[in-house]
Amino acid sequence: MLSLVPLRDLTPLGAALTAEGLPVDDLAQPGRRFFEAVDAHGTRIGFGGLEGAGQDQLLRSLVIDKAARGKGLGRALVAAMNDAARDSGAERLWLLTIDAADYFRGLGFADAERAMAPAVVTESLQFTTLCPGSAKLLMKRV
Ligand SMILES: CC(C)(COP(=O)(O)OP(=O)(O)OC[C@H]1O[C@@H](n2cnc3c(N)ncnc32)[C@H](O)[C@@H]1OP(=O)(O)O)[C@@H](O)C(=O)NCCC(=O)NCCS
Repeated sequence: MLSLVPLRDLTPLGAALTAEGLPVDDLAQPGRRFFEAVDAHGTRIGFGGLEGAGQDQLLRSLVIDKAARGKGLGRALVAAMNDAARDSGAERLWLLTIDAADYFRGLGFADAERAMAPAVVTESLQFTTLCPGSAKLLMKRV
């Protein structure tokens, strides 16, 4: 079992993202919600974030602790983030990734044209600045 807990202190998230080479420069900006993922014992096993609050939201900052990988927790985290997005009105979840596109394709995301991206994506710092133009854009209906 995996639960999401809203994150107040972004410091451990920043450290985890930095260790994975994922963007951190915009973490403290408004319009973003970050969660820690905890297991049934209340132990933190990863993080996830959502950007935007409408029908289109950007899934970002997904990390599972190295020691906990390969046990289906990443899949469970994405499912929980999907539910959190849906509960806040999302109809589509967007994602930018440099080297994990195959992983997310396996979780129901499909490749999307950058020209199709909604404002929440095109105006995100991940899209404009932090991720290279070669980053893949994926989308999933929630
Ligand atoms: C990607 C990540 C969240 C997956 O977490 P996880 O708990 O290991 O995932 P699961 O247990 O659900 O799935 C594991 C499977 O996904 C595969 N996988 C993991 N990362 C992958 C990647 N980048 N590309 C393709 N497949 C990947 C594993 O090889 C494994 O395959 P198997 O089941 O055939 O052995 C985790 O590896 C991670 O935190 N990576 C660093 C941060 C990152 O890349 N985040 C995504 C940025 S958009």
